Amino acid sequence: MRHGDSPRPEELDPIERASRDELLALQLERLQWTLSHAYKNVPFYRQKFDSVGVHPSDCKDLGDLTKFPFTTKQDLRDHYPFGMFAVPREQVARVHASSGTTGQPTVVGYTRRDIDLWADVMARSIRASGGRPGDIVHVAYGYGLFTGGLGAHYGAERLGCTVVPVSGGMTPRQVRLIADLRPDIVMVTPSYMLALLDEFAAQGLDPRASSLRIGIFGAEPWTERMREEIEDRFDLHAVDIYGLSEVIGPGVAGECVESKDGLHVWEDHFYPETVDPFTGEPADAGELVFTSLTKEAMPVIRYRTRDLTRLLPGTARPAFRRMEKVTGRTDDMIILRGVNVFPTQIEELVLRVPGLSPHFQLHLTRPERLDVMTVRVEARPGFADRDEAGEALRKAVKDTVGVRVEVDVVDPETLERSVGKLRRVIDSRQG
Ligand code: DLL
Repeated sequence: MRHGDSPRPEELDPIERASRDELLALQLERLQWTLSHAYKNVPFYRQKFDSVGVHPSDCKDLGDLTKFPFTTKQDLRDHYPFGMFAVPREQVARVHASSGTTGQPTVVGYTRRDIDLWADVMARSIRASGGRPGDIVHVAYGYGLFTGGLGAHYGAERLGCTVVPVSGGMTPRQVRLIADLRPDIVMVTPSYMLALLDEFAAQGLDPRASSLRIGIFGAEPWTERMREEIEDRFDLHAVDIYGLSEVIGPGVAGECVESKDGLHVWEDHFYPETVDPFTGEPADAGELVFTSLTKEAMPVIRYRTRDLTRLLPGTARPAFRRMEKVTGRTDDMIILRGVNVFPTQIEELVLRVPGLSPHFQLHLTRPERLDVMTVRVEARPGFADRDEAGEALRKAVKDTVGVRVEVDVVDPETLERSVGKLRRVIDSRQG
């Protein structure tokens, strides 16, 4: 699939056309506001700044931000539910929450203006992906406490699109609606897009003949190989979108369809840094850290996302830095007999082996004293030589990742499908 068209200059937000210097000046002004807003209104930030002897007035340029302490998921948990809010609860127009699969849930809050700014950055992201006013947008991200559905919904409305708010699940109906309503754009997790692909086949429909022009995929890591797979199977532009609830939701960064070279971070609202995940020192590639610049209800200062990436200069939007596609999360990293492995590395390799489908799971066991990882992967329908495919994957993992894995090639359509975020790793190790 070739790259899509750039928006005309007059279609962009004025700041998207600004120079880097103009953006930096705006960031500094907004950063200073955020630091004092957080210090004045959130006891947690006041104590934390005081404990290391920094004050918002110490921030004289953007580099001074590194003097301020990090904020972590644990800090949000410790102040559950409303302890991180910087405005009276009555001014909070909405809350969302994280799923809490890794522990206690965390709640995030938005003022009316925050919801408005969120719609703006989402509209900008959809436009960067190639969306235009008048497009029909099928939203299959979950609606509810998860930020995906409502975030996409408000953004698509703000851009002037016709929104089909389907949410996740009821897969046959999703495909029916795509066939009947003829949307231009689908917004969904990449893993659920694969489930939709199966359903197209089940209904005897050709996915390449669908009306879909653009897919805006995020909420979980996905690789360049997966992009090729989805673009090829559906004949559309597959574009990445990134965000997290603590920072606002989807729309923190978005990929431009004309370059498809990583995600431009909407730096007029979210200030990115990358740090070494172990030492916290600034690093070229490492853990992404965000400071909100305009959020009222729940400003975050140097929030540790646990997502691993690298920051690069802007291309399609020159003033804004890009982040590379996220490799994974620090807590998704598997350490297998001393070797670090990310599920995305396995995804790249699975999709290189003819005969293997993109549906796979990683099973971790400890049969004796050593950890074993088994890649359980579905064969492509109609593909006969499973032993050969399995052997090819085993060899590719050994040669590129440097570790031995077991491969179990199973029948098509036997692994569980996701309807939202995919669970890639199944860990049954004891202790
Ligand atoms: O997943 C927000 C979102 C919804 C983003 C829809 C994009 C599309 P949370 O549930 O708080 O929010 O999960 C945030 O998901 O820290 C990453 O680990 C992961 N994530 C989100 N987008 C991407 C992406 C939403 N494009 C967590 N690539 C983040 C890789 C992603 N990982």
